[in-house]
Amino acid sequence: MAFTIAIDGPAASGKGTISREVARVFGCAHLDTGLLYRAVGLRMLEGEEPLEAARALMPADLEKDGLRTGAVGEAASKVAAIPEVRAALVDFQRAFARRDGGAVLDGRDIGTVICPEAEAKLFVIASPETRARRRFQEFVAAGEDVDYSRVLEDVRARDARDMGRADAPLRPADDATEIDTTHLSIEEAVAAAIAAIEAAGGTRTA
Ligand code: CDP
Ligand code: CDP
Repeated sequence: MAFTIAIDGPAASGKGTISREVARVFGCAHLDTGLLYRAVGLRMLEGEEPLEAARALMPADLEKDGLRTGAVGEAASKVAAIPEVRAALVDFQRAFARRDGGAVLDGRDIGTVICPEAEAKLFVIASPETRARRRFQEFVAAGEDVDYSRVLEDVRARDARDMGRADAPLRPADDATEIDTTHLSIEEAVAAAIAAIEAAGGTRTA
């Protein structure tokens, strides 16, 4: 049976970490849809036209080095505001969502636009300061030369762009369960997500 779990939220709210663990616990496939936009953003930084890049996107693009950098995240949120780019990526995401064995997709518009019929929907949030601190620590660990105030500025700019765009803005679906991870450990956030998915009819396999 195709049980679809939609997990949306702003940058560094913890949705990716939760999604990976949820996929393991419920025994389903996982798609980080941010990688699609990051792959298009990277191709744009390399000089390609974003819509052509979106139409030509290959699975191998999602494995490229450098997709997780701040510059590519920024480029991703710019190409993500182009309606034709979003449209070019819809079919792939919907097909993934309905695969046998179930799927978890995380992003910005999964519960609202890509999979409005998803069986379980979560909206993961955390304060901008907490999210910036988490991203800052990741950049430091990866050897990127950044300062915290700059990362906080970027988080706020990306929130504004993702929430303010006309097409598929970041917002919770009416039937989404909100999880605020500001004061939660990863274990607590994952436990809250699992409880919400079980309440929506999901069955654990691990
Ligand atoms: O990991 P992080 O939350 O920083 O970003 P991401 O999920 O990799 O997404 C990068 C950018 O892609 C976001 O800022 C959004 O603008 C865009 N995106 C989107 O518009 N729709 C999605 N379903 C996923 C990402
Ligand atoms: O996918 P998204 O951008 O929403 O966030 P993430 O990559 O899952 O999480 C961003 C960072 O916050 C990671 O380094 C996590 O280990 C950390 N973190 C978390 O995800 N959840 C918490 N409750 C605490 C920290």
